[in-house]
Amino acid sequence: MHVVICGYGRMGQEVEQVLLARGHSVVTRMDPAPDRGDTRAMKPADFKGCNGVIEFSLADAVTANARTYIEAGVPAVVGTTGWEDKRAEVEQAVRDSDSGYLVGSNFSIGANLMFALTEKAAAIINSFPEYDIMVQEYHHTRKKDSPSGTALTLAEKILSVNHAKTEIVSECLHRQIKPHELHVGSVRGGSIPGVHTVTLDSPADTIALTHSARNRSGFATGAVMALEWLQGRKGFFTVDDFIEDLIARSLEH
Ligand SMILES: NC(=O)c1ccc[n+]([C@@H]2O[C@H](COP(=O)([O-])OP(=O)(O)OC[C@H]3O[C@@H](n4cnc5c(N)ncnc54)[C@H](O)[C@@H]3O)[C@@H](O)[C@H]2O)c1
Repeated sequence: MHVVICGYGRMGQEVEQVLLARGHSVVTRMDPAPDRGDTRAMKPADFKGCNGVIEFSLADAVTANARTYIEAGVPAVVGTTGWEDKRAEVEQAVRDSDSGYLVGSNFSIGANLMFALTEKAAAIINSFPEYDIMVQEYHHTRKKDSPSGTALTLAEKILSVNHAKTEIVSECLHRQIKPHELHVGSVRGGSIPGVHTVTLDSPADTIALTHSARNRSGFATGAVMALEWLQGRKGFFTVDDFIEDLIARSLEH
């Protein structure tokens, strides 16, 4: 693929490494910051002959950029976060057009596989009520939110399929936990980029699913794979559509 990178910050630069490693080429790097890439305002003509764009920019930029991609008819993968208030508007514009547009707040392949495995595990234990389920996460000292967004997504996946758990509790309890409560614990310390463990525990044994992030390259790999998947597809998609399709294909073989 010949790809335009929109937003050449930390993620844009990771995306470039992954594109080149997977045999693709970078047409141009669009970024208004003077020391990064091409500072011109993007125009539809900039996308002539290219197979797609990957955007990791800033929330304020997403709507105007989406209009340019739609006008150019170029498929776009957008990892920028924080524009939920504009999402309905962008989604409608994409649906009214002939474009392919895929969004996600977490493109990490590993984290998305962890979500899928957790959902499966939480459903399986419905037939084995001796197994309880819980979530624990570790992050570096600079992290401001707890529990992490990833831990909350894991907890929501569990609640969506597990019959025993109906409520997430994330505080220090100072009391006995109730059977319907799903405990999500957070620990902060050191430089840990992110560890999430889902534990299934019975009187006889323990099963633990752990995802440990090492760096940002997993996000970039997911975004590039999403653009590969988007080729030839029209419509508004999320990272879940892409991951679920790849998982379904794995299970067919
Ligand atoms: N979806 C995911 O998996 C995932 C993973 C990591 C980060 N993110 C999100 O991606 C975004 C970028 O993260 P980052 O760490 O690379 O940030 P960054 O600050 O390093 O880079 C953002 C870049 O966007 C540029 N920019 C600003 N306005 C622009 C415009 N109109 N057009 C093009 N570029 C523009 C900035 O100059 C900057 O270089 C953030 O919203 C972040 O939350 C998403």
